Amino acid sequence: AQSPVKVTVTGAAGQIGYALLFRIASGQLLGADVPVKLSLLEIPQAVKAAEGTAMELDDCAFPLLSGIEVTADPNVAFDGTNVALLVGARPRTAGMERGDLLQANGGIFGPQGKAINDHAADDIRVLVVGNPANTNSLIAQQHAPDVPAERFTAMTRLDHNRALSQLAAKLQVPVTEIKKMTIWGNHSATQYPDLFHAEVGGKIAAELVDEAWLRDTFIPTVAKRGAAIIEARGASSAASAANAAIDHVFDWVNGTEWTSAAIPSDGSYGVPEGIISSFPVASRNGKWEIIQGLEINAFSRERIDASARELEEERAAVRELGLI
Ligand code: NAI
Repeated sequence: AQSPVKVTVTGAAGQIGYALLFRIASGQLLGADVPVKLSLLEIPQAVKAAEGTAMELDDCAFPLLSGIEVTADPNVAFDGTNVALLVGARPRTAGMERGDLLQANGGIFGPQGKAINDHAADDIRVLVVGNPANTNSLIAQQHAPDVPAERFTAMTRLDHNRALSQLAAKLQVPVTEIKKMTIWGNHSATQYPDLFHAEVGGKIAAELVDEAWLRDTFIPTVAKRGAAIIEARGASSAASAANAAIDHVFDWVNGTEWTSAAIPSDGSYGVPEGIISSFPVASRNGKWEIIQGLEINAFSRERIDASARELEEERAAVRELGLI
């Protein structure tokens, strides 16, 4: 039998953590035949709550769950880790400037990156969910010089899934009919959900909808869906975010022909090298590859560039703050 894969979840006592851990333990993250060992990392004040979740995980008697640890020490949590899901982050609170937000998150993702560098398994894969996810991932990556840079990713799969769902509803087709959806850029309001390469029943999606809907309804609805969920639910997306994290890692490990993920740019499509930006990607042999050769029209160019510019500004800001 395969030896267990160690999966570390930070922010384990939070709402995404609660929606995520049970699905990992049931085998949905890696596959139904892969045993997992869970490590739950929390801040000291939340360790007790995470221990409560660990008790519930025990009570599920999941056949694939071979062990659980709960800790407030990143060096313990990331020791021998194969998959790290960095969910815990410092949220923006009223009156907080961008610099304060980046500073607070630098204090979390810098040390976690270093602990990953020093203790994780050689095949470590990192998905950052905690916002600002792309730049938090960059901060962690820059503190882990011994880990291949490409192992640091950030989540835009929730945006991707939202785009699938919005388009499916508009065209009255099942989501499974839609291929080649793409989210470009930052997991923020500047993200660009691209319908010029998405296909529905072999036709280009952008040609099946009118331009006004695409521009004035589809793009803002996808980009602002997080705020709409908060408005309706009184809390931010949790189960759908956990679901997207599962999709991201499952596809990374098991392969896919086309999805969206934020990965370090190699300069493709004019996106500055090094920033962690969302692209159309395939996964082969456990590695993300940017899908090449797509034609980018002026409408897309403008939006891809704007989101890349925002990521460059975030990178410049964390450099200036000495966080990378
Ligand atoms: P939450 O506030 O319910 O939970 C966050 C947890 O992280 C808390 O239990 C907190 O104690 C913990 N935490 C804080 N600092 C930590 C540290 N240094 N080490 C370990 N744990 C730490 O938040 P929720 O709803 O679970 O969301 C988590 C993050 O995910 C937020 O930053 C949110 O903005 C982000 N998010 C990202 C999405 C995406 O698509 N990329 C979608 C939805 C949420």
